[in-house]
Parts: sequence; structure tokens; C-alpha cells
Amino acid sequence: MARPADSTRLALSSFLLFCLAVWTAVSGRLVAAQYPYPGAAASTTPPPYYYYPPPPPPASASYYYYAPPPPPNPFAEQLMAELQAEPEFQRFYEALNMSRSIDMVKGLVNSGVTLFAPVNGAFDALGAVYTECMLKRPGMDDLLPLIVRFHVATGNFVNAQLMTMSSVQSFLGLPIPLTHAAAGGLVLDGQATVTGPDVKIAVNATVHTIDTVMVPYTARRILELLCYNAPPSSPEEANQVAMWRMTGGG
Ligand SMILES: *[C@@H]1O[C@H](CO)[C@@H](O)[C@H](O)[C@H]1NC(C)=O
Ligand SMILES: *[C@@H]1O[C@H](CO)[C@@H](O)[C@H](O)[C@H]1NC(C)=O
Repeated sequence: MARPADSTRLALSSFLLFCLAVWTAVSGRLVAAQYPYPGAAASTTPPPYYYYPPPPPPASASYYYYAPPPPPNPFAEQLMAELQAEPEFQRFYEALNMSRSIDMVKGLVNSGVTLFAPVNGAFDALGAVYTECMLKRPGMDDLLPLIVRFHVATGNFVNAQLMTMSSVQSFLGLPIPLTHAAAGGLVLDGQATVTGPDVKIAVNATVHTIDTVMVPYTARRILELLCYNAPPSSPEEANQVAMWRMTGGG
């Protein structure tokens, strides 16, 4: 049974605990009022709701980082249509198409382009190397563009201009060296002869007929290994060939 002194002590300590609780609660509220918890206020507002499709962007000029694409150039469309319709360039057009180069040529008409178009016979002379390997074999996905784009020069040059120049820049970035034969003939990169100068002169574009499909030196060894089945000259080259055949990379 508790003595009177004990009950006084119990009452006193209960009172002190009560005061502590009151002080904690009041001071906590004061502190909370002084430094409101940021999440507390946000939770009372409804969460943002996202609609699909998203609302249109603000109509401010700086919102659009990219200039709209230029309108299609009617002269570029006309050039490609005429190239496609010309029986002598069926193979060349097919090669442009298969190497995904048509849009690139169209784009170049905006500034000037020269096409060195091999005749059908130049592609036929390659035989199965062209039809079964360059057009089809894995690895040629990357190689055909190298070869086709070596026949596209940046800048529009008629034959009279080419006769005064020592090279033109191909779209590939490699220059095409020009050599001039005594009788007025023009030879490209020592590989092809211009047989039909200025066969087509269009707005910002000139087409010359050539007799051979040119291979830029950067593609020559890959072609030998993949299409002419040349034996690899080193274990590294053999590995590279195996890799191309497996992955289709060129
Ligand atoms: C162009 O290439 C596509 C495949 O990339 C092919 O389906 C189409 O027949 C080709 N057109 C011509 C004219 O070669
Ligand atoms: C032709 O090329 C010039 C630049 O060499 C360019 O200013 C002009 O707009 C081009 N014309 C067409 C019709 O693309």
C-alpha cells in the first residue's frame, strides 16, 4: 500500500509529464507553423492529370529549335523522274535506290550536283558480283552506298568545266581525280571514261555517262574479300571477313 509521500511524488511527476507533453505539442505546432513541411501543402491539391495527346506547345518563336524542312525542290523531282525513265540508266537508278541515295541526290540539287552515270552495260559487266553480291550479300548494305556515292559529285559541272579541272569532290568526301586524254577524253580516277558528256543538263544538275562502275579505294579491298572471294592476307583480315559475313556490317 502506497504511503502519503509516495502519492504526492506520483502526482508531482504526473503533473511534470503532463507539462512536458503540453510543451512538446505546443512547441511542435509552433515550429511546424514556422517551417511548413512542403509535402503537407501539396497533398491537399489534386495530383496533376496528364491527357493524351499532350496539349499543344506554347506558340512562342523560341519553342521550335529546328527549322522546318525545305519544300521539295521541283527540279530535283524532275531530275530523278527523268533518270528513272531513261532506259540506259535503269541499273544506275536501281543502284541509287538500293543504296538509299535518292533523297541525298535530290538534296544536292539545292546547291548543285554532277552525276557520273554508268550505263547498264557497266553494271552487267560485273555479272553476279553485282547482282548476287553487291546488291544482296550482307555487308553490302554499307558498301553499295560507298560505291554509288563515288559517282555523285557536289557542284554542278558541265563537261567544258570538267575539262579545266584536275578533280571534283565526290559526295563520299573523296576527290575524283580527272585526267584529260589528248583527244578531249576525260578519265575519272583512272577507272572510267566519260562516253556521254552533258547527256542531261538540268537546273543545278548535270549527268555524264561513263563506261565503268568506279570503286573508291576505301571499298576496293572489302569488295575483293566479300564479292570476289579473294583469300584473306592475314588472320586479322580473315576475322574481319568472318565478322562481316556474320553481322552484315561492312
Ligand atoms: C527501290 O528500293 C525498294 C527497296 O528499298 C524496292 O522495293 C523498290 O522496288 C526499288 N525501286 C526501284 C525502281 O528500284
Ligand atoms: C541552284 O543552286 C544555287 C546555289 O549554287 C542555289 O542558290 C539555287 O537556289 C539553286 N536552285 C534551285 C532551283 O535549287
